[in-house]
Amino acid sequence: MNRSHTCGALRLSDVNTEVQLAGWVHSVRDKGFVLWIDLRDRYGVTQLVLDEERNGADILAKAKSIGREFVIQISGQVIERVSKNPNIPSGDIEVLVKELTVLNTADTPPFTIEDESDGGDDLRMKYRYLDIRRNPIKDKLLFRHKVSQIVRNYLSGKDFAEVETPYLIKSTPEGARDFVVPSRMNPGQFYALPQSPQTFKQLLMVGGMDRYFQVVKCFRDEDLRADRQPEFTQIDCEMTFVDQDDILAVFEEMLQQLLHDIHGITPAPFPRISYADAMATYGSDKPDIRFGMHLAGLNDLAQGKGFQVFDQQEWVGGFAVEGGAAMSRKEIDAWIDWVKRPQIGAKGLVWVKCNEDGSYKSSVDKFFSQEDLAEWASACKAQAGDLVLVLSGGKTKTLTQLGQLRLAVAEEKGLRNPQVFAPLWVVDFPLLEPLEDSDHFHAMHHPFTAPKPEHIQQLETSPKTVLANAYDLVLNGNEIGGGSIRIHDRAVQERMFSLLGFTKQEAEEQFGFLMDAFRYGAPPHGGIALGFDRLVAVLGGHESIRDYIAFPKNNSGKDVMINAPAPLDDEQLGELSLKTTS
Ligand code: AMO
Repeated sequence: MNRSHTCGALRLSDVNTEVQLAGWVHSVRDKGFVLWIDLRDRYGVTQLVLDEERNGADILAKAKSIGREFVIQISGQVIERVSKNPNIPSGDIEVLVKELTVLNTADTPPFTIEDESDGGDDLRMKYRYLDIRRNPIKDKLLFRHKVSQIVRNYLSGKDFAEVETPYLIKSTPEGARDFVVPSRMNPGQFYALPQSPQTFKQLLMVGGMDRYFQVVKCFRDEDLRADRQPEFTQIDCEMTFVDQDDILAVFEEMLQQLLHDIHGITPAPFPRISYADAMATYGSDKPDIRFGMHLAGLNDLAQGKGFQVFDQQEWVGGFAVEGGAAMSRKEIDAWIDWVKRPQIGAKGLVWVKCNEDGSYKSSVDKFFSQEDLAEWASACKAQAGDLVLVLSGGKTKTLTQLGQLRLAVAEEKGLRNPQVFAPLWVVDFPLLEPLEDSDHFHAMHHPFTAPKPEHIQQLETSPKTVLANAYDLVLNGNEIGGGSIRIHDRAVQERMFSLLGFTKQEAEEQFGFLMDAFRYGAPPHGGIALGFDRLVAVLGGHESIRDYIAFPKNNSGKDVMINAPAPLDDEQLGELSLKTTS
């Protein structure tokens, strides 16, 4: 074979061993009579040495023709290095080369294959296979593999069976647009790629599979963000004869095991926060609870004092920034500008400094007394030396803006430490979201989510108030999973479709197969899907999922390496009945 060892394997204990190595030339240092090559593979780097005295002129001449990223194979003897490199595990030794074969040459790579590369994002995406040679990307892919192994072992150990479900399916409403695939054999008809295997996993439960999982690609045609890709991977799971607590217990243990095996952490039982509390306290349904800065409602304290900006609003709220009173005017102004950015959309930001001497200084001193400001500070649990930041407006919008501001301030204060892990469950989501200008609703999770049993009656009388048996798993401010107990009763599912605005016929057309299945002994069931890319990224200490995916899409949804998407030629379009060929 090509090698006896990998490039990360050799140590002092191997000195005098004859070895064969193969790999990529990471660097060449040519000092005339002596030449060093750093040889790299997935496992590490080993230094090779060639000199005229010990190797002879021929092989040295051959080595001098070698460039970066050439693929070579060598045989030689492990020797102790004179000047050791404590920064790499193989830094005590080098290999004195006796034979050298060039397996392949390489053009000069378009960017440096180093931990800190000189290549910009686009260039690295175009040559992703070269990017993957760099440690930061390679290590993330290997980390992904490790997480997937732990997950698969854990689930298999709990009797979950991995079952594959089809990719060429019919649209499932998960809230995004579908990617569609034209059917050549059925002109004018299209498959949709699954946004998730939701209906199939439910049918597997009707089929008696009891516990299913799948590490599965999902496809959603939505705008990209750091934590979103148009094709991404879920750890999709479903269980029969369970209630919400059973499901939370299984997946809480799974995340605990991951945190333990990867980071040596054994987290306490995860807190459970209702959706309503999460919004009121954190301004987010995926709160980052690594730090406090809880939001407080200030309507009672701040309205009716003649400050028009607050008086007319549905919601006034704020939070305290520890030590924030020390901020300069310029720093506060920067936060005012920050909340006014279109992405946040606030009209302004009111601030109150809680001075060390017990007095208050605010941007609204004209309207509020020291006693008023003291009450705000107390509501926000601000201490002397803190700064209170206050926004006002529509309730949901203001809470969301405060939540965004809270995160940004925490980021700036270094409170979002990626090595600290704070998981929690958000529970008790509303089942339905009213649609503007319509009597109908949007399913907050998806149409198959069951209402809380005690709320079933309200589906008829006040659907808005119905809570769902749904839950999200949140880690460090990222929604890494979501699931629910499902409807398994045909009548309830029909009612749900009608609330969502489906006519009987539309429901039958789209979901007749599921409703039919409910006639044949559908067991109670529920499940969850974890966003695998997000889970891996957050466990790895990052919020961007891109580098944890071997071949991701760029921000315009393109793969610039293979140049996809791309037009089809007329013949292919014709075959697919997308264009008539002449
Ligand atoms: P949901 O739509 O909440 O639920 O998706 C589950 C998890 O998938 C991840 N996720 C994404 N990750 C990367 N890129 C995306 N575009 C993307 N969209 C979602 C998130 C999310 O929490 N069928 C249900 C699950 C169920 O009810 O069992 C579903 O798909 O981490």
